[in-house]
Amino acid sequence: MRERKIELMDNKISRRALICGAIALAVGVTPEIAQAAVPAQGITKRKDGKLDLNLAKNPALKKVGGAVTIDLTDGTSVAIVRTAAGVAGLTVINLSCTHNGVTVMQNGNQWLCPAHGSQFTLAGKVVQGPARTALFKYPSTATLKTLTIG
Ligand code: FES
Repeated sequence: MRERKIELMDNKISRRALICGAIALAVGVTPEIAQAAVPAQGITKRKDGKLDLNLAKNPALKKVGGAVTIDLTDGTSVAIVRTAAGVAGLTVINLSCTHNGVTVMQNGNQWLCPAHGSQFTLAGKVVQGPARTALFKYPSTATLKTLTIG
């Protein structure tokens, strides 16, 4: 399995997010977005480098299809997605398109790449290319209150 660091960045709007938003507006993606991921709240970094996410502070994750995002220091973003009910129903993926690294955006029940049109399921599997591989998935464990990433 590939390794990927999960270094937390301030949860402000990143330059990359602004650029992707501008691209999305230019290609007309935004009007079709039924649901959009929101910045995660209640994140703490543990001594072992893993991140803990307080689930009570992220109501978007109560409903299947809900997603929250975390910006990392490497300029990429991570999404925590509710893909099913229960503690095993959370998936953590990196939002860098596996075709050429552009940040994908939530478009209803899929992630859409504004660069060349790749589409992924909410869990990160390829639905449509040119991307050929799934979005990077981080290991995670959950309790009723906390999701631990890394
Ligand atoms: S970078 Fe995403 S489809 Fe090309």
